[in-house]
Amino acid sequence: MERPWSAVRLSRRLWGLLLCHALLQQDFFARAAPACASPKVSPSVAGQFWHISDLHLDPTYHITGNHTQVCASSKGVNASNPGLFGDFMCDSPYRLILSALQYMRDSGQQVSFMIWTGDSPPHVPVKELSTKLVIDIIGNLTATIRSFFPDLQIFPALGNHDYWPQDQMPVSASEVYNAVADFWKLWLTGEAVSTFRKGGFYTQVFQPNTTIQPLRIVSLNTVLYYAPNIVTHNMTDPANQFEWLEGVLESAKQNKEKVYIIGHIPVGYLAHVRNITAIREHYNERLIDIFRRHSSVIAGQFYGHTHRDSIMVLLDKNGKPVNSLFVVPAVTPVKARLEADSNNPAVRLYQYDTLSYSLLDLWQFYLNLTEANLKNESVWKLEYVMSKAYGIEDLKPESLYEMANQLSVPQSKLFQKYYNYYFVSYDPSLCCEEQCRINQICAIQHLDRSSYTDCIEHEGKLQYG
Ligand SMILES: *[C@@H]1O[C@H](CO)[C@@H](O)[C@H](O)[C@H]1NC(C)=O
Ligand SMILES: *[C@@H]1O[C@H](CO)[C@@H](O)[C@H](O)[C@H]1NC(C)=O
Ligand SMILES: *[C@@H]1O[C@H](CO)[C@@H](O)[C@H](O)[C@H]1NC(C)=O
Ligand SMILES: *[C@@H]1O[C@H](CO)[C@@H](O)[C@H](O)[C@H]1NC(C)=O
Ligand SMILES: *[C@@H]1O[C@H](CO)[C@@H](O)[C@H](O)[C@H]1NC(C)=O
Ligand SMILES: *[C@@H]1O[C@H](CO)[C@@H](O)[C@H](O)[C@H]1NC(C)=O
Ligand SMILES: *[C@@H]1O[C@H](CO)[C@@H](O)[C@H](O)[C@H]1NC(C)=O
Ligand SMILES: *[C@@H]1O[C@H](CO)[C@@H](O)[C@H](O)[C@H]1NC(C)=O
Ligand SMILES: [Zn+2]
Ligand SMILES: [Zn+2]
Repeated sequence: MERPWSAVRLSRRLWGLLLCHALLQQDFFARAAPACASPKVSPSVAGQFWHISDLHLDPTYHITGNHTQVCASSKGVNASNPGLFGDFMCDSPYRLILSALQYMRDSGQQVSFMIWTGDSPPHVPVKELSTKLVIDIIGNLTATIRSFFPDLQIFPALGNHDYWPQDQMPVSASEVYNAVADFWKLWLTGEAVSTFRKGGFYTQVFQPNTTIQPLRIVSLNTVLYYAPNIVTHNMTDPANQFEWLEGVLESAKQNKEKVYIIGHIPVGYLAHVRNITAIREHYNERLIDIFRRHSSVIAGQFYGHTHRDSIMVLLDKNGKPVNSLFVVPAVTPVKARLEADSNNPAVRLYQYDTLSYSLLDLWQFYLNLTEANLKNESVWKLEYVMSKAYGIEDLKPESLYEMANQLSVPQSKLFQKYYNYYFVSYDPSLCCEEQCRINQICAIQHLDRSSYTDCIEHEGKLQYG
């Protein structure tokens, strides 16, 4: 999560407000989230995998009368309504993380693997952590995940908090890369571990069944491209990851593999602010260019970091949809002090075609934190199934593009639904008026600077006539 931008609150115009609220009342509540159910798919067609991100364990979390002392991650601010499973001012208590993993294990879902896109330590001032503490927390969560899924293949990626000082990931071997490589070598091949030790990224083939084409996971270290990372400032290709990535994608094409890109910080523009890329803009331009040129081998992209639920569709230079990208919401419910809204804890299940690896659907699960705390019991539920919620056939680029176009229609009721899910049903009455809406809409389909700028201009003209 990026705090400096969290304070940005967009100006509101009255008619926008009225319209938005009218929409909410008319339709939104009538189409509440589906009741809890179990994905039913034919195992010969669809494979499944879990995606979790941004666990942000706060080991100091405890319930006490003085609410400024509930958790270090509230940074001296009063916790809002602390309970057994956490608080919206705090990072995850260990119990919350256990409840998520337990729910996933006990759901009985057959999965082929899990992706885990980083950020294990809590949001606390740099001086309250250390290299040792950061390593200990990543080791703790690795062991914890392993204990729930002893036989499952996990593909992890590093987040900007998985380093000390946070964000400052280096472009060569380091104590953190080494220690984490030692934790993760139980899941990774020797070759993957070796590139990981040097730059915090790796690639590895996943092939449960030798009669079908292999799936290659590419775990990028996008923290090297993150604006607060001073180490990589002014570098054209930090840790030579771009060159490595192009090589991996080229040989994947030759070997007739399909690729899933996983990483912590997403490409593209942040959805809740105007004109800000999640990674540095010039690195974003470079990555988008690479992804466009190699889109035929990339079957999906999976990120975290924003703590919110959003999609992106990568269009090629002619405006044709070529890639589906997903940003998974966080397990931690924490919000920044100045932020009005947060997210309920979330975990996600994807379904994919085992032949082409294209995405078929996703099942978004969540914990109503308020309710869990009231009852002292964690009841994880299905929030929505993407194909059903948005009336699309599958999650292939063409279908996501169709969904994006539906969301862009002025006064779209689907957009109101998307915006509620963006915060994992934190507050269904939240409204996104015109400037807010333009930011969201343009971020979905426009991942490079020139098309994003055009979108903002175009949408602005529509809005103001
Ligand atoms: C609560 O804890 C804070 C921080 O330790 C302290 O400054 C404050 O006096 C405490 N409040 C009460 C009512 O004890
Ligand atoms: C926390 O809440 C207590 C009790 O309501 C209040 O006295 C105190 O000023 C609050 N502290 C902060 C830092 O907001
Ligand atoms: C992880 O940390 C939690 C909370 O601090 C602790 O209770 C638990 O025993 C630790 N687990 C492992 C596997 O280290
Ligand atoms: C491997 O995949 C093929 C084609 O989908 C299928 O017929 C076969 O049963 C699979 N084998 C195993 C062991 O899953
Ligand atoms: C980056 O380059 C600019 C201009 O060339 C220079 O002023 C700045 O000090 C450099 N920053 C770092 C961290 O090297
Ligand atoms: C968007 O951001 C870029 C780079 O930060 C800047 O050059 C450009 O002027 C901005 N565009 C608008 C419309 O604010
Ligand atoms: C979460 O639980 C609270 C308390 O029971 C309830 O008011 C709220 O409507 C619930 N939210 C959702 C999305 O179900
Ligand atoms: C939940 O647990 C807390 C203490 O952890 C207790 O004070 C409260 O009464 C319990 N609530 C219910 C509904 O059991
Ligand atoms: Zn995070
Ligand atoms: Zn992050």
